[in-house]
Parts: sequence; C-alpha cells; structure tokens
Amino acid sequence: MEKPIHQVLEELTLWLKFQKDSGVDLIHPEVAQSLERLDMAVKRRKNAGQRTVSADLSMVNSLSSLQAIVEQCRACGLSATRNKVVFGEGNTNPVLMIIGEAPGREEDRTGRPFVGKSGELLTKMLRAINIDRQEVFITSVVKCRPPSNRTPHKDEIEACLPYLQRQISLLDPKLILCLGGVAGQAVLGVNSSLSDLRGKFHQLHERKVAVTYHPAYLLRFGGNKQQHLKRKAWHDLQMLQKEYDKSRQKRPG
Ligand code: URA
Repeated sequence: MEKPIHQVLEELTLWLKFQKDSGVDLIHPEVAQSLERLDMAVKRRKNAGQRTVSADLSMVNSLSSLQAIVEQCRACGLSATRNKVVFGEGNTNPVLMIIGEAPGREEDRTGRPFVGKSGELLTKMLRAINIDRQEVFITSVVKCRPPSNRTPHKDEIEACLPYLQRQISLLDPKLILCLGGVAGQAVLGVNSSLSDLRGKFHQLHERKVAVTYHPAYLLRFGGNKQQHLKRKAWHDLQMLQKEYDKSRQKRPG
C-alpha cells in the first residue's frame, strides 16, 4: 500500500530514535540497504512529481482547481512540515498581483497570506497609495512555510514556481509587485540583486513588474536605516501608484 513520504519519514524517525534509545548503535546491513532504496525512491518520486506539476498545469483552467491541486502538493520537503498551504487570496480579477517570498508562522497557521506583522505593514503600504487590500490578489512564490522562516531553497522555489506561473496566467494582472529579492528573481527569472531590480518597471510579456523591499525586511531595522529603506520603498510605491491608476481606468468592469 502506498503511503505519503512525509508519513514514512516520521515513522522512520520514530523507529530510529527508539532503536537509539534502546542502546542500538549500528544498523543491520539489510536495514541500511532498505534505507538506501527508500532514499532512491524518494528522489525518483520527487523528480517525477516536479515533471507532473509543470506538464499538467496548462490544463488547469480555474483558480479553484489550481488551489485544490496545490493543497495536495508533495513536490518538495516543505510539505512535510507545513500546517496549511497558503495559496493566496484576494480579487480574482485584479489589476495588481502582489507576490511575497513564503508564508510565515501566522500564515502557516491560518492558511492566509500576509496576516502577521509583515501583513500589517503591507496593508499600510497599500493604503498609503490608495489601494485597498481587497482590490489586489496576494500570494507568495512558495506556498508552504520554510521551517524557522528560513529563505526557501532553490529546489523548493523551482518545485513551486509552476503554480505561481499558472496563478499569474489565470489572474491576468496588468501589474505585479514583488516583495523582496527572492520574489523578484523568481518571477523575472534573473539573478540580479534587489537594489538592481527595484526602482523601475520590468516587462514580463504584457505585464509590468515592480520589485521593492519585503515588509519583513523593513521591519528588521530601526532608526535611520529603516527610514532610509522606507524612503526607497515609498519611491517604488509611488511609481506603482501612477501605473495602477492608469491601468485601473482602462480595466473593464
Ligand atoms: N511573507 C511572505 O512573503 N508571504 C506571506 O504570506 C507572509 C509573509
């Protein structure tokens, strides 16, 4: 009978701990061989899983079907430690889509994007340029929380990127705001630093993409440094507001 990999890993960890606590120091060669086979199976499954993600998604024609798929995803290790998948939420016919890096603790607990401290600041940043949170769609590059809020690894970003790309196609926003370098690099497919990416628009097919500081980064500093970063973020937001107002006027309905 097939079992999800995360369950096998949990059972295996418990079993190994039990062996160690019972004074067992060495593993029998047959057990070691089984572990190697398991490791190979996990790797094969992971590669196959990633291929399936990108191959099948062009057939997914609604956001709710995509969400149902993402909620079952086991394409990377983050699925073993998440509580909830954070697919994203907001206006499903948005002029503007906002993309962060990865869910944090509150997002993982609630299944909703940007509801912690960063979310509060994001809501204020949007309000400062006359945009209500309900008007936009908010998501992140990676849909599951990395343990201890670490930066998502390259393989985790790669495994999750097809979902984000399909979300962008289905939502069809005119504008995208990436929060932080990880989001900017993933969306634009480049390696440039945040300071190179911010302060201007990038063209992604028919869409305009701006990149600015992640609210969590702005919150990390106090005093002059925070003021300096907030001034730069304010510049990016004003640039976005001009374009948003133009696109909003053109948008039917
Ligand atoms: N940071 C992100 O990038 N995404 C969230 O959903 C929350 C915090």
